Amino acid sequence: MTNLFEPFALGPLTLPNRLVIAPMTRNRATEGGVPTELVAEYYAQRASAGLIIAEAATPSAVGQTYPNITALHTDAHQEGWRRVVRAVHGRMFLQLQHGGRVGHPDTSGRTPVAPSPVPLPEPVHTPTGRQAAVTPRELTGDEVRATIADFARAARRAVDAGFAGVEVHGANGYLLHQFLAENTNHRTDSYGGSPENRARFAAEVVAAVVAEIGADRTGLRISPGNTVNGIAEGDPLVVYPPLLDAVAHHGLAYLHVAFADPGSQAYKEIRTRWTGTLIANPVLPVDRVPDDGGRAAAERLLAAGADLIALGRPFLANPDLVERLRAGAPVNQVRERYLMYVGGPTGYTDYPTLAG
Ligand SMILES: Cc1cc2nc3c(=O)[nH]c(=O)nc-3n(C[C@H](O)[C@H](O)[C@H](O)COP(=O)(O)O)c2cc1C
Repeated sequence: MTNLFEPFALGPLTLPNRLVIAPMTRNRATEGGVPTELVAEYYAQRASAGLIIAEAATPSAVGQTYPNITALHTDAHQEGWRRVVRAVHGRMFLQLQHGGRVGHPDTSGRTPVAPSPVPLPEPVHTPTGRQAAVTPRELTGDEVRATIADFARAARRAVDAGFAGVEVHGANGYLLHQFLAENTNHRTDSYGGSPENRARFAAEVVAAVVAEIGADRTGLRISPGNTVNGIAEGDPLVVYPPLLDAVAHHGLAYLHVAFADPGSQAYKEIRTRWTGTLIANPVLPVDRVPDDGGRAAAERLLAAGADLIALGRPFLANPDLVERLRAGAPVNQVRERYLMYVGGPTGYTDYPTLAG
């Protein structure tokens, strides 16, 4: 059976092991979205991962979700990311995320935009704390096309900054997922209605990124069945097959499935349908990192046909997770959860390694 510590060829990259850092927003950028030296230090500490998928970066000002997240639509953003990539190594993708309705004028200075004017049914983080979400403005057809172009431009900037590629964020209730889901997409144009139409925006973003930087530098993340951020997409076996069919011909670097349950129908259908590289992110307990660091869950997914395994919190709390898993060594727990999303080194770059 495939082993977590075997190398894997991902396009032109040779990954030394099958362990991938899942993208994790950590809100340590400047107010303007520029990643800092601290961000570079955080990723450099975790460079033994087979692949790093760096946190969501927004491709446009209006796509900003939360305070102090990273962005990639100015030269300053690009330069900040260049410093991060230089501190790490070449095995690093960057996730591109537009928040859609998950945003607030107090954060981005703009009214959020979305497929339809359906507000997030829960408060949203802003610089002054959690506030009721505002009703987003419906994107016009021209704005949909401009948003797709923003993703392509950000992808170009990512490659110019030294990333091996980008991951298009189609998961977790942000803009692409809002187009996919029935409850957030009430459009009557070619981007709404049938499952094929709801999948169109995500497919066109992927196609535009591929045209800009190439398929072997482009990944796509999805989270079928995930209801986070008020998403009700209906039966995942309805909208994801047309999406995968629409992007399959590119020969993407990978498809990344978040919260992948190897026993679920959705996972089995995706693994059968997707003949390319599959990164799977297992479902771990919400309150703690398992004592084995997620190894058993990772191995179950490898046995169920995943090629690479993405872990989030285990890597957050363990910069040397690969070594710990290999040695069967104890793992650190995530300390104070609120430190996940606030600035500074505490709970970010101060997790100990086995060496101390
Ligand atoms: C602090 C934190 C930030 C996250 N930020 C992102 C993100 O930017 N993009 C994304 O797709 N998922 C994000 N996620 C979800 C993770 O990528 C992952 O799917 C989730 O944590 C489950 O994996 P785990 O149990 O190994 O942590 C985040 C999770 C955490 C804990």
